Amino acid sequence: MRAADISDQLTSVLVTEEQIHDKLAELAARVDSDYEGKELILIGVLKGAVMVMADFARQLQRDITMDWMAVSSYGAGTKSSGVVQIRKDLDTDLHGKHVLIVEDIIDSGLTLSWLLENFASRGAESIEVLALLRKPEAAKVEIDCRYVGFDIPNDFVVGYGLDYAERYRNLRDVAVLAPHVYS
Ligand code: IMP
Ligand code: MG
Repeated sequence: MRAADISDQLTSVLVTEEQIHDKLAELAARVDSDYEGKELILIGVLKGAVMVMADFARQLQRDITMDWMAVSSYGAGTKSSGVVQIRKDLDTDLHGKHVLIVEDIIDSGLTLSWLLENFASRGAESIEVLALLRKPEAAKVEIDCRYVGFDIPNDFVVGYGLDYAERYRNLRDVAVLAPHVYS
């Protein structure tokens, strides 16, 4: 569905599907050249990063491997708790690998800072981060993110993989959820 299909539940559209696809193509070209001649593994953070991973990975003009990790730091609310739990671990040994973490959004940064430490302890050769969205005003810890799609205001957003209580992940655009939906 597009934002126009559920406009009564949204306050504004921040990034359209077309803008997302253009940006991912641009980021993929950078990753292609930055990792030339290196073995690259993309690690997606479930479930929010599913759409980003699917579209970004297919824009690459090279072969990669892919793995997934499921963590939770949110529950059903709209604020980060900072408590990170592993729900599904990687199937891959990261020793000596060039890792690119693929994320939907950096909000407080707490999840990623935890993941970065966790992956570093597994002996990865290099670890970088790609995030489609980032909320600079919400940062509680600074994350060194090499590939950022869009900086957005500190509002709760849904769509393109991002949910509110598991809803709206299949919205094609990224939009601000209307407060009446969650209050
Ligand atoms: P953190 O606050 O940076 O730790 O964000 C952790 C996770 O919370 C992200 O990977 C998202 O899955 C989710 N999240 C953060 N901000 C939003 C939002 O505005 N809408 C939906 N999910 C969000
Ligand atoms: Mg996420």
